[in-house]
Amino acid sequence: MDAAVGTAFMLSVTRPHYAALGGGGFMIFCPQTSPEEKKKPCTALDFRETAPKAAHPNLYISEGKANTKLAQNGALASATPGIPAGLLEALARHGSLSRQKVLSKPIQIALQGFPFTSHEEVAAYSRWSAMNPEAKKQFGCKNNLPCPPGTIIKQRDLAQVLKYIARDGRRGFYEGEVARKIIRGLRDDHGILTLEDLREYKPQWRDPIITNFQGQELILMPPPSSGGIILTQLLKFASFAEDEGNFKLGFGSVPSLHAIIHGMSLAFADRAHFLGDPDFIKTDWKRLLEESYLKKRWKNFDSKKAKLPEKAGELEVNEPQHTTHLSVIDRHGNAVSMTLTVNNNYGSGFIPPGTGVVMNDEMDDFSAQPGTPNQFGLTGDQANAIESKKRPLSSMTPVILRDQNGEVRVVIGAAGGPRIVTSVFLSLVNRLSFRMSLQDALAAPRIHHQWVPQQVNLERFGFPYETRESLTQLGYTIHEVTSLAKVHALEKLQDGRVTGAADPRGEGASVAE
Ligand code: DON
Repeated sequence: MDAAVGTAFMLSVTRPHYAALGGGGFMIFCPQTSPEEKKKPCTALDFRETAPKAAHPNLYISEGKANTKLAQNGALASATPGIPAGLLEALARHGSLSRQKVLSKPIQIALQGFPFTSHEEVAAYSRWSAMNPEAKKQFGCKNNLPCPPGTIIKQRDLAQVLKYIARDGRRGFYEGEVARKIIRGLRDDHGILTLEDLREYKPQWRDPIITNFQGQELILMPPPSSGGIILTQLLKFASFAEDEGNFKLGFGSVPSLHAIIHGMSLAFADRAHFLGDPDFIKTDWKRLLEESYLKKRWKNFDSKKAKLPEKAGELEVNEPQHTTHLSVIDRHGNAVSMTLTVNNNYGSGFIPPGTGVVMNDEMDDFSAQPGTPNQFGLTGDQANAIESKKRPLSSMTPVILRDQNGEVRVVIGAAGGPRIVTSVFLSLVNRLSFRMSLQDALAAPRIHHQWVPQQVNLERFGFPYETRESLTQLGYTIHEVTSLAKVHALEKLQDGRVTGAADPRGEGASVAE
């Protein structure tokens, strides 16, 4: 846990476009097994951002229409950050080093500076027009444009914030001088977050979802992540498809792609209708994972043609790009799977003056209005409508796989909005069903379907013309994209060695120490 928390704080300094203190995240932790107690329970920590107390369902609606730009750019786009509180909570419960020790290196690098990467430059260009002067000052160089790669970026204000956190713990961020600066900055730009919102923010320990696939036990994030539910559904649909013989021609074959796409559209239809913050919705989401329910949903799969679901499944209910993932395993077998996000590149593009803290635009993960797509094209219903103090639905999917003996085998997760869950799913199917190596499983070309819009996103150079033709003939609309998500994973091999795999689409790497 020390390594995971230390890395996360370091990323808040060196990769502020996706892991800044102003964001949120999820984490799965599995403790090492011991001869006396195999299979110790794993835990899930939700440090997702929370809507401001003053938020309401019509926050982004004017003259009957949703203006989602307000949920994506500037001070009104930010929900209460969760990363500082979440990391400190995890360290206090499962770590062994002091805050001061874990934060010493990030503070040093914030002061000394780090070399800006080409990814950060490209990300800054993509968000430049949305950034406030403070953010442009932090990441800008000549002619008030983003700094070129290699520029040493020093962050004195951020170093000071990290020093307060090292000294005072969560109070160093959520109360006192830092909190006042954050709120003043946001308020000056028409934000609605208050000191009370910051003071009251709490990460939540939740019971993970546990499911099985190919003899392995998967530990998954429950709502407000949609990841655990969607991944469980996808794996179940994959098992049905495999039992029906759709995988027998192997990876990339048209029958396997057709079955996978169908499963994706079913799962995302359920996401749009049923899912939201579990502390606010009354739907019993566990029912979405029942075998009988999923069999009924799968029944309409037609191997001869595309038949996308018209709506979510029927359940009786009581009432109606930016992110990163890190996977850690230590020599004892303790494992952490953690995904962090500020949502878009550099979040809302807003740094409250004097703090160096890049604020999130997580409010865009709510459904601003039924049927209105967010920046990832996702639509949602009442379950994910904006409400005071509610957490927006997420796609982040940190996962840990354990074998029958309770030994951690795989730690995996991804960045990439809704493509997170489908890419983690494909990587697991590649590794466990198609028997690829971990690195090959991550590198293999990907597809993604999220029900709405009704199109198959397909990596441009991944599939031959004939495959795309066959999918079109089945009735799918193909939409070519450059790349889908970035998955990072590691695997403990049978002989005890650990191998790491970083997605070639991103800038990650694996390290052993
Ligand atoms: O929580 C979510 O689902 C999104 N905020 C994640 C955004 C994301 O992955 C952007 N990245 N590449």
